[in-house]
Amino acid sequence: MKVIKTVSTMKALAREWRREGKRVGLVPTMGYLHEGHLSLVRESRGRADVSVVSIFVNPTQFGPNEDFKKYPRDLGKDSAYLREAGIDGLFYPEASEIYPPGYRTYVDIEGLQDRLCGRSRPGHFRGVATVVLKLFDIVGPDFAFFGAKDAQQVLIIKRMAADLNLDVEVVTCPIVREPDGLALSSRNAYLSPGERKAARVLSTSLRWAEKAVGAGERDAERLVAGIRSILEAEPLARIDYAEAVDPETLEPVAEIHGEVLVALAVFFGATRLIDNLRLNV
Ligand code: PAJ
Repeated sequence: MKVIKTVSTMKALAREWRREGKRVGLVPTMGYLHEGHLSLVRESRGRADVSVVSIFVNPTQFGPNEDFKKYPRDLGKDSAYLREAGIDGLFYPEASEIYPPGYRTYVDIEGLQDRLCGRSRPGHFRGVATVVLKLFDIVGPDFAFFGAKDAQQVLIIKRMAADLNLDVEVVTCPIVREPDGLALSSRNAYLSPGERKAARVLSTSLRWAEKAVGAGERDAERLVAGIRSILEAEPLARIDYAEAVDPETLEPVAEIHGEVLVALAVFFGATRLIDNLRLNV
């Protein structure tokens, strides 16, 4: 596995692969890897001839009062996992490599970036889209792999790829969960034992919603109210949002019909966790 720290080296290596006719897979991450990330890595290994994982804690997607400084980092462990997974390249740039002095260019995905997580994290998706576009340009992947856990993120990346005519296939991979249902996340490391237990309520409420829809519930307001009451019964949970939306526009729906995305963001102490359920009725 090659560890690449500069944009120019990464570009040269990717150019060489393409010259050899190899199809390149990219898995963008912020590191502190877990099974969720590794499921994307395996998908890339299965589809592409060579696979690159990027590890970059992207400063532009964190708000001023968010956890950029304390975001968990463990390069030693991450590179051991990636070596074992058979990854060809680990792209691990410094912030100054991605955003050199004088940097001024950003990508806005109008409308989509302001809903759900974008409402409580202004500027977040602008930072995500910008860094992902830069990674696409640097690595030039044929495939890029993203997790369904960050449903709004994948939607935004797909929109960007279509709008900018990017030659990359954006692949969505299923949510990987702990045995008790909690979706894996690097931020789970922040949870106290009590909060960790309480966080099960996220997937519990979504499973309830799935059952309710299975039993015939079609009223979105009632469905969301049911989810909220399950979340509110957990004293350590504080709801940021709970919504049933159209998975393409992210606008709230009135009726559970066709494709619907049920999306949640909930605080446990200072830790904000997200989860979602994709329904097809
Ligand atoms: P990060 O949170 O490190 O996640 C990297 C990728 O792993 C994302 O596509 C995310 O959806 C996926 N992922 C995380 N937890 C998952 C789980 N439990 N199951 C399946 N996939 C999971 O998302 C980011 O980094 C950044 O915003 C990034 C795209 C790298 C841009 O900076």
